[in-house]
Amino acid sequence: MKKLFIVANWKSNKLLADIDFYTTSFKEESSVDKEVIICPPFTLLSALRTLIDEKKLLYKLGAQDISPYEAGAYTGEVNGKQIKEFCDYVIIGHSERRTNFGEGDEMLKKKVKQALLSGLTPIYCIQDENTFVPEGVSLIAYEPVSAIGTGNPDTPENAEKVATAVMSKNPHIRFVLYGGSVTSENIASFVHLEHISGVLVGGASLDHDKLAVLIKAAS
Ligand code: PGA
Repeated sequence: MKKLFIVANWKSNKLLADIDFYTTSFKEESSVDKEVIICPPFTLLSALRTLIDEKKLLYKLGAQDISPYEAGAYTGEVNGKQIKEFCDYVIIGHSERRTNFGEGDEMLKKKVKQALLSGLTPIYCIQDENTFVPEGVSLIAYEPVSAIGTGNPDTPENAEKVATAVMSKNPHIRFVLYGGSVTSENIASFVHLEHISGVLVGGASLDHDKLAVLIKAAS
């Protein structure tokens, strides 16, 4: 059975009061074959780390961003070593950061470098098969902009085509995820594809019960 990654990108949502119920309600859904990676805002990383450790939950944590610099005089930034205290993964290159915060290839290359230096695995988002992928990236998420938050996912056929093309262009890529309007109804059609190893889920990851159903539906 192939290993599946299910990445829950909470974006700029949720408060401390939201997380306890959330994390206990689907603990039995993760397994060694399904790596569930919760990516909360920075403010919730510490509390979630404690919860996961105390309750011996199986899922992993990821950050949604990383400083392009090491520790130092960079007001407002959170660096790789700080993230590594809580996480194994970090999302880099999401289209919302490219569009709203002007992040381009040079900046994203620096972020990938800092992630790798800190022992974090980048979940590098690409928007199409021609998106530049920095060296050292082994896990990518194909997320067409037209599919994000719109309820209009890409077709599984096209996702498979893009994944195949990107892997043949970048031999260092081991896993390709699909992201964009993934739900419990359509997840199976993506994870059953030969070259798709999981999903990156935004909106449908915010409700704990819906996420539990979604994770189950990935089998
Ligand atoms: P969506 O978001 O699942 O709400 O479309 C996906 C993403 O932005 O990663």
